[in-house]
Amino acid sequence: MDRGYGRQHHPTAAERRFAVLALATIGWLAGESLARAGDRPRPVDFAHEIAPIIRDHCAGCHTNGKYKGSFSLDTREAMLRSESVVLGKSAQSELIERVLSNEPDFRMPQKGPGLTASEIERLRAWIDGGASWEPGFSFKVSRYVAPLKLRHPVLPAARDGRDHPIDRLVDSYLDAHKIPRPRPIDDAGFARRLFLDVIGLLPPPGELEAFVKDESTGKRARLIRRVLDDQRAYADHWLTFWNDLLRNDYKGTGYIDGGRKQISAWLYQSLIDNKPYDRFVRELISPKPESEGFIKGIKWRGRVNASQVREIQFSQNVSQVFFGINMKCASCHDSFIDRWKLDDAYGLAAVIAESPLEIARCDKLTGRIAAPKFLWPELGSIDPAWPQERRLEKLAGMVTHPDNGWFARTIVNRVWHRLMGRGIVHPVDVMANEPWSPDLLDYLARDLVDHDYDLKRLIGQIAESSAYQSSPAIASEADQPDGPAFRGPQVKRMTAEQFVDALWLLTKTAPAKADAAGRPPCEATAPEHRFIRASLMSSNELMRSLGRPNREQVVTTRGDVLTTLEALDLSNGQLFNDTLARGAANLIRSRPGATADEWIDSLYLQALGRRPASGERATARELLGKPATAEGLADLLWVVTVLPEFQLIR
Ligand code: HEC
Ligand code: HEC
Repeated sequence: MDRGYGRQHHPTAAERRFAVLALATIGWLAGESLARAGDRPRPVDFAHEIAPIIRDHCAGCHTNGKYKGSFSLDTREAMLRSESVVLGKSAQSELIERVLSNEPDFRMPQKGPGLTASEIERLRAWIDGGASWEPGFSFKVSRYVAPLKLRHPVLPAARDGRDHPIDRLVDSYLDAHKIPRPRPIDDAGFARRLFLDVIGLLPPPGELEAFVKDESTGKRARLIRRVLDDQRAYADHWLTFWNDLLRNDYKGTGYIDGGRKQISAWLYQSLIDNKPYDRFVRELISPKPESEGFIKGIKWRGRVNASQVREIQFSQNVSQVFFGINMKCASCHDSFIDRWKLDDAYGLAAVIAESPLEIARCDKLTGRIAAPKFLWPELGSIDPAWPQERRLEKLAGMVTHPDNGWFARTIVNRVWHRLMGRGIVHPVDVMANEPWSPDLLDYLARDLVDHDYDLKRLIGQIAESSAYQSSPAIASEADQPDGPAFRGPQVKRMTAEQFVDALWLLTKTAPAKADAAGRPPCEATAPEHRFIRASLMSSNELMRSLGRPNREQVVTTRGDVLTTLEALDLSNGQLFNDTLARGAANLIRSRPGATADEWIDSLYLQALGRRPASGERATARELLGKPATAEGLADLLWVVTVLPEFQLIR
């Protein structure tokens, strides 16, 4: 390269991208792939507009064990594997070409009359809009029935001295499926993943270095303890997860007219205290004023259909969040995809109703009044004559009942998913699906129940296993829905909050004051990473483009829909670029005498946990300018933060 970008002029986005490519060609990016790109869903109603077409015209030859032409329409993943659907581009999709064709051998369906013009039009709009699919829906009929009670799994014998209970179960699974054990992860990789997974932050460079140098035994277990004991950072990080799940936000829909209530202070304190999960949930379902925001839900403005009234929101949210059950379909009619009926959805809704709740079927009133009842009547009954408070108290007891295996399994699966990148049951919101290891799931769930529902203990248990301390599996292989479901931890994308925290840390641009109600202020003598975290701030354009959801719906997994790089590009990077420019100017002012190499080393160590390779160093020097300029430093920050190595948790 014969030109230092930073010196002459501010680089254009294209030049910056070129600089990234220059770094990427050095080689350590090889084999790394970002999440799938390109699909942005558009509101085509899969359940009602698309699924019936597939069911009536394609299912007989392409689902549930019959896969003519090796083409499966069981799930969205299976469909996409064939490459006959190009997301966003119906015109380039063989599937559309085939349903349009007049050639008898080529046209689909292969037998019988062709699709109508309107059916084809719907399929096109669906593909153009990203081919959305009801999460977890499969045409494959499952014979698995998840039992209500937890079982007592017997631990297989340890192999090769790997005696952690998780490893005994995982190793036996891997051997049974003839899957090689994933390779162990090195210390630096382990520390970075652990920090990001448990407290959401990059490891501070000094601590990372000391950890890698440390030669004593038990150092990983000690590091796990150390991050779990950082109550504040732990709460800051898991706040994101719970805000998504409980639809808690600091402003937005419902706050304008007071139809929504923050639970931030209660939630934050619960995380600081590591409140036992059963108590945590009892306080949400049978709440005091500070935690009632969850069951009160959102008061939507204007007329809403019957399935959006608050009682039904309650029914849907309780089912989804605590049990991984989708009650949406059953809120309008008996579900076609699982066992839940209209009366189940309304029974749960009636627990919270303050006046008699009439059942509506498909938005039409039926004249029947719903009787309060829980999803599993074997756990108890609720007298309709009781006042609301007593009904909720009874419900809270049944939800968190030690015999309610669905309760413990669901949270165990969510935590496993957060740490390992994929659930033991996949997807996490369809807990009726068969786990890849029922024994592992029930072992962990029982362990949680037996240890006072201690979530930090669960996280520590997982982090201490060799299964967690392994190199990441290649996502595409492990993702085969019909193949084995576990090969090792999967590469994850940073959440919007993790990315923004890291950005704020690198550029020292964190805000001074939190938006979340009830968060104690920063201590004056704080360690390096005590700063107001992104999770405590209302969303902004940058976080939105990186996938932070508005909290109008329960969100249990952040999409891997866009790559972070594309998201930054899409949003035109205004806020991102401003942050980099502001940060770089501050940094340059704060260390006026620093040399280019000092900037480069400290940035690489902080951001990537390593020093740059020689080729990277040369490129970075070019970018920085001589002497280092604020523009040059902003460019270098940009180049480093858009690297997959930075954005992915491996
Ligand atoms: C009666 C059985 C039958 C039905 C019904 C049927 N198909 Fe097929 N399909 C086949 C067979 C056989 C093949 C493989 C032969 C071929 O490539 O033409 C195939 C192949 C395909 C392929 C090519 C897959 C690939 O990767 O090459 C697509 C796409 C496809 N079908 C879509 C559909 C769609 C969409 C429907 C419903 C509208 C449908 N099919 C209904 C029998 C059927
Ligand atoms: C907002 C209300 C509502 C929700 C939510 C809803 N449906 Fe429906 N559904 C309807 C209506 C209305 C009909 C058609 C009228 C009827 O069956 O009486 C229908 C019909 C159906 C049918 C029959 C269509 C056919 O052509 O055979 C299926 C299958 C179906 N829904 C699946 C689902 C699934 C799966 C879900 C959840 C993902 C769902 N529905 C959620 C309102 C809803």
